Amino acid sequence: MNLLSAKNLSHTFEYELFKNISLDLHAKESIAIIGISGSGKSTLLHILSTLLKADTGSVSLFEEDILNLSKKKLSQIKRDSLGLVFQSHYLFKGFSAYENLEVAALLSHQKIDNELLKKLNIHECINQKVTELSGGQQQRVSIARVLTKKPRIIFADEPTGNLDKKTANEVMNLFFEYCEKANAGMVLVTHDEELAHKCNKVYRLENKELVRIQ
Ligand SMILES: Nc1ncnc2c1ncn2[C@@H]1O[C@H](COP(=O)(O)OP(=O)(O)OP(=O)(O)O)[C@@H](O)[C@H]1O
Ligand SMILES: [Mg+2]
Repeated sequence: MNLLSAKNLSHTFEYELFKNISLDLHAKESIAIIGISGSGKSTLLHILSTLLKADTGSVSLFEEDILNLSKKKLSQIKRDSLGLVFQSHYLFKGFSAYENLEVAALLSHQKIDNELLKKLNIHECINQKVTELSGGQQQRVSIARVLTKKPRIIFADEPTGNLDKKTANEVMNLFFEYCEKANAGMVLVTHDEELAHKCNKVYRLENKELVRIQ
């Protein structure tokens, strides 16, 4: 089953970022997108995850064109089936880390997995306010929040950018294991080529095109 299918996407801000980009994501599959800063990777991820509408082209989620979905259905898909880990964390700042997870668990009717908190090594800081956490701890809380939702697609933009190499590897393995176990898929944007090559497919966004390199 196709989790995501994008066809002929083009987008321009101040300059044309890309044109005619097509991409498919299947269950249990991970896709990495690399490319120089400013090439439009985050913009592409925003389009694929329905946060931004492309100038032209179409995006289908779970084999339905998102333009044909009602607002209600689309927000339900966003809430239950899409997991976003972006460059800025978007955690609720006034809350503790645990309260952030509780919100995610409540909205998606899932339970908080204490084992996951241990695996991410945030079990000891989980009751602290988000603003008291280090950048890397906040990043791991947002990863815990996404995995708590049990999404069918994970969109991750430099999810391990604030982490040391060892922790980054452990965290990424959680994502890979999750996709395998839950029949989910992942689109990962990263500058880390070694990490990118752990994904099933690797694309480079270059000269306005998405070129498959693995
Ligand atoms: N909302 C916006 N309005 C106007 N221009 C934007 C907007 N978002 C991004 N851009 C521009 O689009 C270009 C690509 O930005 P984008 O964030 O997609 O790049 P990126 O490949 O993710 O870069 P990085 O590797 O630095 O994160 C940049 O020139 C940026 O200024
Ligand atoms: Mg970016």
